[in-house]
Amino acid sequence: MCGIIGRVGDGNALEPLLTGLENLEYRGYDSAGVAVQNGSGIDVQKRSGKVEELKDSIGEPLHGEVGIGHTRWSTHGPPTDANAHPHTDESEDVAVVHNGIIENYAELRERLAATGYEFTSDTDTEVIPHLVQYHLDAGCDSETAFRRAIDELEGSYAVTAMVSGEHVLYAARQGSPLVVGMEDGEYFLASDVPAFLEYTDSVVYLEDGDVVVVDEDGVEFTDLEGNPITRPSETVEWDPEQAGKGEYDHFMLKEINEQPTSLAQAIEGRVDSTTERIALSDFEPGTFENVDSVQFVACGTSYHAALYGSLTLNQAGVQSTALLANEYSVSAPPIDDDTLVIAVTQSGETADTLNALRRADAEGARTLTVTNVVGSTAAREADDTLFIRAGPEIGVAATKTFSSQAVMLALLGQRIAGDLRNGPPADLESLLPALESMPTDIDALLDESDAETIAERYRDSQSYFFIGRGLGFPVALEGALKFKEITYEHAEGFASGELKHGPLALVTPETPVFAIFTGQEDEKTLKNAEEAQTRGAPVIAVCPDGHPAVETADEHLAIPDTDPELAGLLANVQLQLVSYYAADLLGRPIDKPRNLAKSVTVE
Ligand code: F6R
Repeated sequence: MCGIIGRVGDGNALEPLLTGLENLEYRGYDSAGVAVQNGSGIDVQKRSGKVEELKDSIGEPLHGEVGIGHTRWSTHGPPTDANAHPHTDESEDVAVVHNGIIENYAELRERLAATGYEFTSDTDTEVIPHLVQYHLDAGCDSETAFRRAIDELEGSYAVTAMVSGEHVLYAARQGSPLVVGMEDGEYFLASDVPAFLEYTDSVVYLEDGDVVVVDEDGVEFTDLEGNPITRPSETVEWDPEQAGKGEYDHFMLKEINEQPTSLAQAIEGRVDSTTERIALSDFEPGTFENVDSVQFVACGTSYHAALYGSLTLNQAGVQSTALLANEYSVSAPPIDDDTLVIAVTQSGETADTLNALRRADAEGARTLTVTNVVGSTAAREADDTLFIRAGPEIGVAATKTFSSQAVMLALLGQRIAGDLRNGPPADLESLLPALESMPTDIDALLDESDAETIAERYRDSQSYFFIGRGLGFPVALEGALKFKEITYEHAEGFASGELKHGPLALVTPETPVFAIFTGQEDEKTLKNAEEAQTRGAPVIAVCPDGHPAVETADEHLAIPDTDPELAGLLANVQLQLVSYYAADLLGRPIDKPRNLAKSVTVE
């Protein structure tokens, strides 16, 4: 995926464009570029590498009040200077930034090349400026040329374009996010709100099929044919401080430390331990009374949260499964009107998850999205949405959104089970107070964590294993994913009982085993950990003080005592810290691991 930004207003556009690109860099960081109207034409500066490298390379500052910018995560063509956006036609009359995939680009390119338009990159995007130029050459005015070009595109796109000599931006959305930011006399277009939060919190989310024309007098919202449409304006509650790194060296560490706040926000007004009620007024009473089974669809870390949610639902007596969204089209279990399909997606834009959601909808299931991003595609397409309210997460490795997803899924599970029982959910006396003290528990854990020492002690190991049982299993998978993702070291997560069915063959003194204890059949997990320890592996027990595992393990990462439904989430915070410190010791680019992007909008 890529990040796009556009800006119209008084004063120089370069600074807001570069700020926007820095704020959007989590969406892609293999090349970056900007283009501004400089009074006599369009000035383009672009290159492979990070936004910082682009900034350093702009010797003579660009001047102009209108401009566009882009940060890229390659899909068509390697990350070279030529493939970086903005793309232009040969005479640099039209400049375009794009996020998404143009599926018919090969045929458009062939047609345009045959009529003499010269291509200089390997990207699908480059067809767009040439197409606009083609319609300009045919005598259209700029707006018509843009609309005609957009009309010819197949696939997914968020596009922003400008034509030389005009104080206007043209933009269109189909399948990739695009949001308008508005402040007196200054207007923005961007893939995501943090791009312009320093400048305005007043936003309008575009829908598929929308085309906007932006100049210094305002924004015109239309459909592709040019008919006026209305889109509601919203005020975003995130503040720019939240989107910055603050005192931390990395966004990931900041976001790990934000979990007490993000979890407090997630549950605020949604639980009441005095009345033992899960309010979740996001849904009418009885919303789920006809549900007979639940399927979760998600990818990566969100899949681990989904697995967590699915296990809590099963434990509450509701039939449920968690499925990888990218496998859903070939492995979905049967669906009917009483199936509830829950898409779990932090960004709400993951292509695999959206495809699964759409498939479920087409087959007649009820759909629900659990997401962090208001206005995201998944939020808008599902029948119902539950927002996790974690605030912006910039580090590519998901941390605070995982804990908020898991907690919201645990609550949602109890609510579904309650609706099905046609009465208040049972067994909440322990869960709800534990949930309410999670922010304090995590604060205490963060203050006293030995994760840095453990990371240092085992920094030269060959492989890192994570084991857990029941609700500890998704946490083991998540612990390993986080570790490999940011350290580039080999790590694997297993159900504790599976070690002896094969992976034990890999266990040596060079393979530390992190054993997660959640209070669900801990004695069996302890036995499995000891089986690894007997083969020389150092065991790091992640469990409360006084737990029997502390006696036998080589190391201990302490978690506060809590309800078994939440213990795994506390253990996960310790594991996030271990991954963070291990990656830091290895000098990895923690917030932007190689080859990855924050949200993956391709299949
Ligand atoms: C890993 C990570 C990814 C995402 C996955 C799904 O740290 O963040 O595995 O969880 O790409 O993304 P969303 O939740 O946006 O659908």
